[in-house]
Amino acid sequence: MNDDERSIGKLTVRDVAVEGERVLVRSDLNVPLEDGVITDDSRIKASLPTIRYLLDHDARVIVCSHLGRPKGYDERLSLAPVAGRMANLLDREVLLASDCVGPEAERAVESMGDNILLLENLRFHPEEEANDPGFARQLASLADVYVDDAFGASHRAHASTEGVTHYLPAVAGLLMESEVRYLSALVADPPKPFAAVVGGAKVSTKIPAIEHLLPKIDMLLLGGGMANTFLKASGLDVGMSLVESDQVDEAKRILADAKERGVEVRLPVDVVAAERFEADAGHRTVAANAVPNGYMILDIGPETVAQYASALSTMAAVVWNGPMGVFEMPAFAEGSYGLARASTLPGVAALKDA
Ligand code: 3PG
Repeated sequence: MNDDERSIGKLTVRDVAVEGERVLVRSDLNVPLEDGVITDDSRIKASLPTIRYLLDHDARVIVCSHLGRPKGYDERLSLAPVAGRMANLLDREVLLASDCVGPEAERAVESMGDNILLLENLRFHPEEEANDPGFARQLASLADVYVDDAFGASHRAHASTEGVTHYLPAVAGLLMESEVRYLSALVADPPKPFAAVVGGAKVSTKIPAIEHLLPKIDMLLLGGGMANTFLKASGLDVGMSLVESDQVDEAKRILADAKERGVEVRLPVDVVAAERFEADAGHRTVAANAVPNGYMILDIGPETVAQYASALSTMAAVVWNGPMGVFEMPAFAEGSYGLARASTLPGVAALKDA
């Protein structure tokens, strides 16, 4: 059995009868847009194998996704450009329903015929992110089978990723299968030395992942808002930075556990500290132990990027979860992008996260 054949221990789209069935596919079509134009269509391309598989097996394909982080309806975040691009790539019509639930969506499903139907942005309804059971049930009512192919959104317990599975038979799509297979194999039997880069905002959501990885890794490199709690646990004053005070002891425990296991833990040595949590806030790069009064850490600094990149270059494989700073704001994006650019080794597996 080769790697491509190894089961991921979950049902996939190959395990269910889909002929003639209405199949709701949750894809991650959260593509970057500039003035309504898609600047990178990789995620649309990655969604196609599952869609093609379903078409080849005579399913009725209803695709849904989020796009961006709208607060209610926002025309700029319509999935219309995605429907157009998907239609070009598949060389067949892709209809766009003007809503993802309710009468408009129901009518669109009834009249879709053999066409692919893309439902409008799930996040136009706040109930999506709230994982509202009523909304999940409405979504589920459009289909007979649910396929989760949104690997990039699978860390979110939203109505379209988690809620809907309570109301429909649920299986993984082909992209989800290949991502899970690749990561499981990497983590189960990693080439050594093996490192984990862990960032993102909240340490409390990262502790289980770090605990799972500690017995397997040789080095742990921390960044993002969650690193502040570790800096504090190491005795540093992090000023106004985001810290989860109730997690400081957990962070100390992780540091002690890592030491016992011989896992080298790297924390930022310099940081970009800002006056406010805003894109245009005044900011400066300072040593991690010299955050000015009233400032908050919003990114790792260039010296940390250089040191982390150099450490990673000695690794045989790296798993990366979460950004190194507030990458959505250009002034605080360089830690994440700089490290990604510098980490050119082929074994880097990026796990996207907020
Ligand atoms: C991503 O781009 O990371 C995924 O699509 C998830 O998006 P989100 O962070 O807005 O939930």
